[in-house]
Amino acid sequence: EKMPLKMEVNGKLQNLSVEPRSTLLDILREQLDLTGTKKGCDHGQCGACTVHVDGHRVNSCLTLGVMVNGKKITTIEGLAKGDELHPMQEAFLKHDGFQCGYCTPGQIMSAVACIREGHANSEGEIREYMSGNICRCGAYPNIVNAIQEVKA
Ligand code: FES
Repeated sequence: EKMPLKMEVNGKLQNLSVEPRSTLLDILREQLDLTGTKKGCDHGQCGACTVHVDGHRVNSCLTLGVMVNGKKITTIEGLAKGDELHPMQEAFLKHDGFQCGYCTPGQIMSAVACIREGHANSEGEIREYMSGNICRCGAYPNIVNAIQEVKA
């Protein structure tokens, strides 16, 4: 039986009806067509599905939709202001913080949270905070450079 779910996604109020077992990840991708958030492992191991819930990063594959009732969600689609990219998006472009790009939305959402939560004070701290976001292409040094530039 479906349950009501009210949440604000990228500034827009959504009134949905969801299966109790549906993850936030599947709801974003399948019901709201916000496919920027990626499904890598679906088990909390890769970080490709990272979004912000009330400003805090979460793995949306580990979060049931019903757990975020009444909350504010930000996805990668919600970072840019119109045509103006978020500074972290600009920095990823400038520093080549990706190759295939599959992990990039999750990396960027974590990177924004890394600075906001005060964990970007050294390369080591950044690497520790970002360790849940896996990049198969090995773009890690460039990702760290991008974060350091935005932090500076
Ligand atoms: Fe959620 Fe991998 S898809 S952590």
